[in-house]
Amino acid sequence: MKYILITLLVFFSNSLFAQLSVGQLKTENLIDPVGIDLKEPRFNWQLISEKRNVLQTAYEIKVFNNKKEIWTSGKKNSDQSIWVKYKGAPLKSNQRYHWQVRVWDNHGNISAWSKLAFFHTAFLNKNDWKARWIEPGFQEEKERPSPIFRKEFNTGKKIKKATAFISAHGLYEAYLNGNKIGDAYFTPGWTSYNKRLQYQVYDVTSLIKSGQNVIGAILGNGWYRGELVWKNNRDIYGSDIAFIFQLEIEYKNGKKEKIISDNTWKSSIGEIQFSEFYHGEIIDARKEKAGWLNPNYDDKNWMGVKEVKHNMDVLLATYNEPIKKQELIKPIKIIKSPNNETILDFGQNLVGWVMVKASGQSGDKIILTHSEVLDKNGNFYRDNIRYARQQNTYILKGGETEVFEPHFTWQGFRYIRVDEFPGEIKKENFTAVALHSDIRPAGEFLTSDSLINQLQSNIRWGQKGNFLDVPLDCPQRDERLGWTGDAQAFSRTAMFNYDVHNFFAKWLRDLEADQQPSGSVPYVIPQVMRKKDAGSAGWADAATIVPWNLFLAYGDTLVLTQQYKSMKKWVDFMLSKSNNYLWNTGFHFGDWQSFRVDDDEHGRSAFTDKYFISQCFMAYSTQLLVNAAGVLGNTQDVKQYSHLLQQIKEAFLNEYITPNGATISNTQTSYVLALQFDMLPEALRQTAADRLVKNIRAYNNHLTTGFLGTPYLCHVLTRFGYPEVAFELLAQKTYPSWLYPITMGATTMWERWNGIKPDSTFVSPRANSFNHYAYGAIGDWMYRAVAGIDQEADTPAYKRSIIKPYINSNFKHVSASLQTVYGKLASSWKIANGRLSLDVVIPANTSAYVYIPTESKGDVTADGTLISDSKDLKVAGEEEGFIIVNVGSGNYHFAVNLH
Ligand code: BGC
Repeated sequence: MKYILITLLVFFSNSLFAQLSVGQLKTENLIDPVGIDLKEPRFNWQLISEKRNVLQTAYEIKVFNNKKEIWTSGKKNSDQSIWVKYKGAPLKSNQRYHWQVRVWDNHGNISAWSKLAFFHTAFLNKNDWKARWIEPGFQEEKERPSPIFRKEFNTGKKIKKATAFISAHGLYEAYLNGNKIGDAYFTPGWTSYNKRLQYQVYDVTSLIKSGQNVIGAILGNGWYRGELVWKNNRDIYGSDIAFIFQLEIEYKNGKKEKIISDNTWKSSIGEIQFSEFYHGEIIDARKEKAGWLNPNYDDKNWMGVKEVKHNMDVLLATYNEPIKKQELIKPIKIIKSPNNETILDFGQNLVGWVMVKASGQSGDKIILTHSEVLDKNGNFYRDNIRYARQQNTYILKGGETEVFEPHFTWQGFRYIRVDEFPGEIKKENFTAVALHSDIRPAGEFLTSDSLINQLQSNIRWGQKGNFLDVPLDCPQRDERLGWTGDAQAFSRTAMFNYDVHNFFAKWLRDLEADQQPSGSVPYVIPQVMRKKDAGSAGWADAATIVPWNLFLAYGDTLVLTQQYKSMKKWVDFMLSKSNNYLWNTGFHFGDWQSFRVDDDEHGRSAFTDKYFISQCFMAYSTQLLVNAAGVLGNTQDVKQYSHLLQQIKEAFLNEYITPNGATISNTQTSYVLALQFDMLPEALRQTAADRLVKNIRAYNNHLTTGFLGTPYLCHVLTRFGYPEVAFELLAQKTYPSWLYPITMGATTMWERWNGIKPDSTFVSPRANSFNHYAYGAIGDWMYRAVAGIDQEADTPAYKRSIIKPYINSNFKHVSASLQTVYGKLASSWKIANGRLSLDVVIPANTSAYVYIPTESKGDVTADGTLISDSKDLKVAGEEEGFIIVNVGSGNYHFAVNLH
């Protein structure tokens, strides 16, 4: 009897567990992060269940340090499974904390305890840093070759663990016993260095050994003092590069030791003769100090180092994913151009460098020049790269095969011109390495239309190539800056394709750090331009738009708390520059790169009054501030700024709108912004939307919008009853359109609608990047309207999603998915044999409204059963063209006849 009881118990508890488990444990949205300096890091997890309608009803967290439990939340009755704060005893520096969680659901199941996850703390106290900043102990040469540092040390005893804390002025690569520490590049990344300088934390237990050890480091100029923004504009943050390093060793016998950068280190110059982002790198392998990364190398001829003082208060642990190597791409062709150049084509415009293998004599050279396109005649074209040299040079040591790749530079390219090479040029000796911030892929979007799939691929590549620690405008010419307008325009699309929570959260801290005392926001973040280069509408609004979009996508209220002051300061700045609530002062970029007639034959230029635009963005930013105040419970601000918003809109109507709802500019962007930001009273909205469509028709079904109008164009058309027109614009293949560049062979998004004209000539090289993500902002509409993955406005992080696809005969099928904070959300629809089917996946602990595109309620089936006969699914409502079904988590298959 007893035996049977136990068996039964085991059986039941197993089957209960089998129905519910927990996975994807993350701390501050990262899996097992090393280097967290928050006092109250936050935990996220996902519920996994085969069942439908699963909601968390309670959770329990335990946190351990050295196997000792240091905190338990106890059983908390709550559905919160994201951003749950650690609330235990104060965390200590440089400790590994393990944690696990178990959950209860609404079906009476309890999960087993999850596997252990961990986070490793960085320095939590100011005086944890014992290391000194060091600089080379010699006079620098003009070309600024990379200094190298070394330090030998002995560890007598058995090692338990070793952790390194590293940063630099400039860029660093660090080595322990010949092995690179970590696999990140361009560390310590780019921040507003004078106010915020990130350090990285590495677990180096596997690299250290008992006995003699060597630390090596190489520094590069990078953003700190390399050329940036304008010709000969160097030393933005300082004229000297420097290094700081602290290694904390814990021995098995409990003893601890620190190895720090100080005046006992040695310095010299190695093989890197020159390196800058814009211009490339020169490596002379003959100058390599052979064996310098190994113990017992003789460094007696090296110079010492200089200890220098720098503000230690600006040091902070890295919050975002570092830049890493992501993909290797082989050349698809070797081309001999009419100008007799030898060109390798990698088939994809990408960002990174080319790893090259060669053998030759000592002093033989390899010179590779990078560019994005070939000209009309098939010759190498690099005028649009402007002043950036984009060239890597390698000088061979001679002898056996040598492999080269740069350290402190990247290039944007599809083609390389091989200017010099010892011996025959063969494809197998060249490999392109694509690098970008190590953001996790989040979304997928696939359709039956190959051109649209190529557009999605171009948007993704645009994101990969420009998400290099900072959201860049472009990765190739002498620019590569964190342009705020581009970032805000693309931000929602970016959040569909990749998990960019930490990436943007970190950048927003720099935005706040560089915001001017007046509240004005610089054109670029980090700020590296002049003081006056700030305050443009649609650019500076990154201060409000990006935090709000982050909140929507990830449900992180801390971002809003942290950015709130900055958001408010920006709104107050606009108000301070306004006259009677009309913001009609100052310089603005306007609807950048919108259609201009001198570019082409048809139509007229689409110029939208810049102060019309600034008024719209002032209203939008104010609206977002009100939203944020609402979320944070700041009722006073909700009241005050709601009132302000009304005044801004009134001033707008008086100044820019005719009594019949025409805008003074009468452009597509003017209607799009007025409608998207709810600038018009209800009564004028539909006629404004009609005028927008009339305008599109007048341009023969083409868009004419620039950076600011484009992100919202199709959303506005869809919202006001013209989804068909949005689909026409998406399908348009002639200029200006999203597909035109694809018909011209684009593999990334272009800066201009017509970077390459129909006759294969180029527009002005002054601004003609072939890797600029701003127009990729259509991706947001593709996910939200074509595939139909959206959410309720007041339930961020897709806690309550809306699946509402717009069906269009241009597609036979469309499918998309998104890894939300709660888990995978997916929608795919297909038209076959006169039937429409719609498959959706809703993650556990969330629910959804599914909008089935049909008028005929009676016909809809769910998993083969008529909805009207279904026990658990109910039609929750109807909207023009849709039947709405309310569902819990799980997989559902809907189908309906097409009429
Ligand atoms: C950049 C843009 C940026 C713009 C400002 C350009 O040079 O590449 O994308 O937003 O300047 O208008």
